[in-house]
Amino acid sequence: MKNILIIGATGQIGSELTMKLRSLYPNGNVVAGYIAGAEPKGALLESGPSHLVDITNPAHIAEAVDKYNVDTIYNLAALLSAVAEAKPQLAWKIGLGGLYNTLEVAREKGCAVFTPSSIGSFGPSTPHVKTPQDTIQRPETMYGVTKVSGELLSDYYWHRFGVDTRSVRFPGLISYVAPPGGGTTDYAVDIYYSAVKGEEFKCPLKPGTFMDMMYMPDALKAAIEIMEADPSRLKHRNSFNIASMSFDPEIISAKIKEYVPEFKMKYELDPLRQAIADSWPDSLDDSCAREEWDWKPEYDLDAMTVDMLHNLRVKFGIKQPEDSQTV
Ligand code: SER
Repeated sequence: MKNILIIGATGQIGSELTMKLRSLYPNGNVVAGYIAGAEPKGALLESGPSHLVDITNPAHIAEAVDKYNVDTIYNLAALLSAVAEAKPQLAWKIGLGGLYNTLEVAREKGCAVFTPSSIGSFGPSTPHVKTPQDTIQRPETMYGVTKVSGELLSDYYWHRFGVDTRSVRFPGLISYVAPPGGGTTDYAVDIYYSAVKGEEFKCPLKPGTFMDMMYMPDALKAAIEIMEADPSRLKHRNSFNIASMSFDPEIISAKIKEYVPEFKMKYELDPLRQAIADSWPDSLDDSCAREEWDWKPEYDLDAMTVDMLHNLRVKFGIKQPEDSQTV
């Protein structure tokens, strides 16, 4: 990887991945691809080139690839699961139509492509606990349908045309930088915002709803390491299960209370999100990723909670508890 295009660079993953790649590849072009209305700002704008790339327009992708001599594309454009249920046609157009456009440009111009899949690529008939790498994938959401189809299409472009496609199935991603939006796992981000702001958290999912989650630094590490992995070791490509922690609302709430004793949570269920979460695995088996490209996460729930609370307090100018103890 040297010259990299990130499609969806101002989104939840893209805004952090772009900065991370720019720090790792200072001698290349790391191009922030954005759509109108979501232009890069601040450090993201100032630290490297940007280009208008609406993934539904193949000419935009081709122009950016030509202009910056791009060899690797991170395709992060997607609608998350709950929004995709509200707008299934648009979710398909962006998720699958966009991927097709990206793969075609990659085929013509010789680029490698990373497109995240998700725990949402599984469905009710998938084994829910320690979900194996290769198993039944019959999701019942449009988000999941686009993700499984995307895995298949990406593998097809590898076998048929030799396009170097690789990806991971992300769990719910948690970060303090850019908020997600419209996902089923978003509650595990929102809960930290409520905790630092001293607000009672209204949890949309019921106790016992387990899902895999991951702290953003580990997700970025996975996205970079899979693209740098030795191809001769890869038996799989699209997509690898990756995992670092699995919890339900009760467990994350209890963990936050260890650091914010006054934190309160009540349940206000969202039936759509609950139905989606119930259809997804409780936990994934990521042994293939560990074997084929040495995947190993760094953050568990405790380490993530300490870091999230600290950084959100910095973000909102809220005093850290340790500061009050020292005065
Ligand atoms: N975070 C996604 C969602 O909840 C799942 O990959 O939609």
